[in-house]
Amino acid sequence: MSKALPPILLIDDEKNMRLSLQSMLADEDYAVEAVESAEEGMDQLAKRSYFMVITDAHLDGMSGYEFLGKASKLHPNVPALMITAYATPKLAVEAIKAGAVDYLPKPFAPEELLHAVSRCAERHTLIRQNHSLRQQVSEGYSLDQIIGKCPSMDELRELIQTVAPTDATVLILGESGTGKELIAGALHALSQRANETYVRINCAAIPETLLESELFGHEKGAFTGALKQKAGRVEEADGGTIFLDEIGDMSRPLQAKLLRFLEDGSFTRVGGNEELRVHVRLIAATNRDIVDAIQQNEFREDLFHRLNVVQFRPAPLRDRSDDVLLLANYFLNTFAAQLKKSDLTLSDEATDKLRSHFWPGNVRELRNAIERAVILSQGEIGAKQLPDFELETRLHGKEEDQSAKAPSAPIAIDQSLDELVSGYEKNIITSSLERNRYSINKTADQLKVTRHALRYRMQRLNINNESGESDSGGDK
Ligand SMILES: Nc1ncnc2c1ncn2[C@@H]1O[C@H](COP(=O)(O)OP(=O)(O)OP(=O)(O)O)[C@@H](O)[C@H]1O
Ligand SMILES: [Mg+2]
Repeated sequence: MSKALPPILLIDDEKNMRLSLQSMLADEDYAVEAVESAEEGMDQLAKRSYFMVITDAHLDGMSGYEFLGKASKLHPNVPALMITAYATPKLAVEAIKAGAVDYLPKPFAPEELLHAVSRCAERHTLIRQNHSLRQQVSEGYSLDQIIGKCPSMDELRELIQTVAPTDATVLILGESGTGKELIAGALHALSQRANETYVRINCAAIPETLLESELFGHEKGAFTGALKQKAGRVEEADGGTIFLDEIGDMSRPLQAKLLRFLEDGSFTRVGGNEELRVHVRLIAATNRDIVDAIQQNEFREDLFHRLNVVQFRPAPLRDRSDDVLLLANYFLNTFAAQLKKSDLTLSDEATDKLRSHFWPGNVRELRNAIERAVILSQGEIGAKQLPDFELETRLHGKEEDQSAKAPSAPIAIDQSLDELVSGYEKNIITSSLERNRYSINKTADQLKVTRHALRYRMQRLNINNESGESDSGGDK
């Protein structure tokens, strides 16, 4: 059991005591790192995780009591055991007050020490199990949840498997609903930190003024309302992973602080002076066009480079149309099982409707569409049970218009300029058709071409008029 634990930090200025404690603990398979002074002890605590500290009360320089006072504030999750030669009830109380969980007067029998240590080990294991159970219940991320059989999804899963076990910082860029959160979760679940805490913060959901204190904590009185000291979420994530979602929405001053944090894991709480340090793996995601945000001076370029050690770019659903039906059936089965409906299938019309949609809201939009259809249907799901996609398309219309001005389609090396332009043209016409309910007249108007020219282009680009309506269809 003890092999899976982080080491014990032992602080004693007497060499013989260090050696004898070390051998006692090593006999029970505990890993021990020993130092001579409280100052060195503080340094070590800042550098890595320990499951407990054993310190002598009387040390040269900073005393054991002072050490406990500081350590229990900075590392409240690491229990400490104090050993002293001058045992009095008063000193025992002082040790406990300073933050020791236990107190051992010298001389003591090896069993007494081992008993105290095993209690701390048990506590540590329980905390860990609790974390990991909580995660399994609430998050339960895994690679199997990432559905998709097109090559870009295979590559994505492969990259997750390669990068997860490393401590590399990861940046996930992709449109809303493309699965960024799933990727971040899978990266943690497959990492060596899987049993440690996974903290997710949505930077866009927390008011700017509170985000810094949420991330890095604050000291008592740091601002109105800071009634007591609060540890930051980065401290909670110590040893584990922190996922900063919607990082493109973080304010520039906080970006500077995050940059420093990324250098070496060091930070100060809001209103505090003390430099703290944790060992956290950082994953960040945004659906903003990050290059645009840098050009607008809203995102620091140096932070982008720091975060961008490994980059994931889940493709929009419209670029992996082969996955639409696979995902649709996956969600169909999931929701049908949840709602205890058997024998649900997609009709041909529904299949066609799903295939021809542009999916501006990506997989999330598809998932919601199927959930709704499963609720509404018995037996076969018809086109009527699917939403009116025009609304979704219009909702995302603004974003599309912007991207129409500045195309950001990835440039595939093996495509010619003509092929790229055709692909782009096809996207514009398809989305405009959807927005106009396949009315040729309205679409032609919107795109400022004649009906004839639009028909010609549709033929050339192999675009079907999905509604099957005549030229004036939809213009009723
Ligand atoms: N490849 C996939 N396989 C299965 N489910 C997926 C896949 N991609 C996304 N989903 C599902 O779609 C929904 C949206 O995914 P997710 O929350 O990860 O998107 P996101 O990229 O973080 O979006 P946003 O930018 O809006 O936060 C979730 O319910 C997720 O489970
Ligand atoms: Mg998300």
